Amino acid sequence: MTLKALMLGCAAAAMATVAFADEDAVLSIEGETMVTQAAAPAHMENVDTVYSGWTFRTPETQALQLDDFDNPAFVFVDQALELYETADGTAGKSCMDCHANVADFAGLKTSLPRVEDGELVTMTNLVNECRTERMGAEPWKYSGGQMSAMTALLAHQSRGMPMNVSIDGDAAPFWEKGKELYYTRVGQLDMSCSNCHEDNYGVMIRADHLSQGQINGFPTYRLKNAKINTTHGRFKGCMKNIRATPFKEGSPEFKALELYVASRSTGLSVESPSVRN
Ligand code: HEC
Ligand code: HEC
Repeated sequence: MTLKALMLGCAAAAMATVAFADEDAVLSIEGETMVTQAAAPAHMENVDTVYSGWTFRTPETQALQLDDFDNPAFVFVDQALELYETADGTAGKSCMDCHANVADFAGLKTSLPRVEDGELVTMTNLVNECRTERMGAEPWKYSGGQMSAMTALLAHQSRGMPMNVSIDGDAAPFWEKGKELYYTRVGQLDMSCSNCHEDNYGVMIRADHLSQGQINGFPTYRLKNAKINTTHGRFKGCMKNIRATPFKEGSPEFKALELYVASRSTGLSVESPSVRN
């Protein structure tokens, strides 16, 4: 049976109610309560409430995010902190030489991607800009280990703050493009992001509980591959699952899609680094 047939079968059975492990479960990390459900932003026509992916995980997976000592992502966050303090490149500088306090990056994740000089930029782009333009260092691979860890460290500074990307003005054309990609059917299974994450969230797909595909928890640690996973890495995996040729990580298509999906996460707390299966 194809994934799509399986999906449709499940969908028919479960469409009426959205099933959560426990809809009222509260995500409180180190004494701070996260917003895991919020009224959908006005631009989302087909959904009333947005839910963090955490809501859909099993109690065992959920528990790993409640305490930073249990959260396996923090091994990588600690590694990033070391990178942050280490000089690299011809200028002989570390991140810390110019950004003395990593906590100053609080808020950044909530507003990315954003437009600068007519270009859509992600956190990864900003980090690599510092590496190449200001440190005289090689750029890190888009979803490589160092970059994933560094963006997890920087995004973590915004934990608990609501996602709030800007989608109008200069950002509007990028957002429109991302929206179009989100609703376009692709691949051998001829499915769009919306077919799963908008039409069928709450449904079980094989052993996996479909979420709304939000990105407030990214970068995220996945139990499946025991490492930090980036937004574009996840988009790529979802495209492969529907037998589509994925766009490249860091491509204009994935950046536009990231902006659009980030706008669907509006109001949800940044959970980075989250834990998913
Ligand atoms: C030689 C100084 C210098 C070094 C070294 C440096 N940066 Fe920067 N960085 C800047 C300047 C200047 C800006 C632009 C102004 C600003 O936002 O602070 C910037 C901007 C940024 C931004 C965007 C911040 C925002 O709010 O828009 C990020 C993210 C960033 N740097 C991360 C890093 C990381 C991670 C490293 C180490 C890999 C690093 N930087 C190394 C000087 C530096
Ligand atoms: C065939 C169904 C299907 C399609 C189509 C699909 N996904 Fe997914 N996606 C999944 C499943 C299953 C998961 C893992 C469980 C979950 O979090 O929903 C997932 C997870 C995700 C996550 C991680 C959510 C979190 O909280 O960690 C994101 C983000 C995501 N998808 C985005 C997308 C985007 C963008 C597209 C379109 C390019 C897409 N997906 C297409 C099935 C799909």
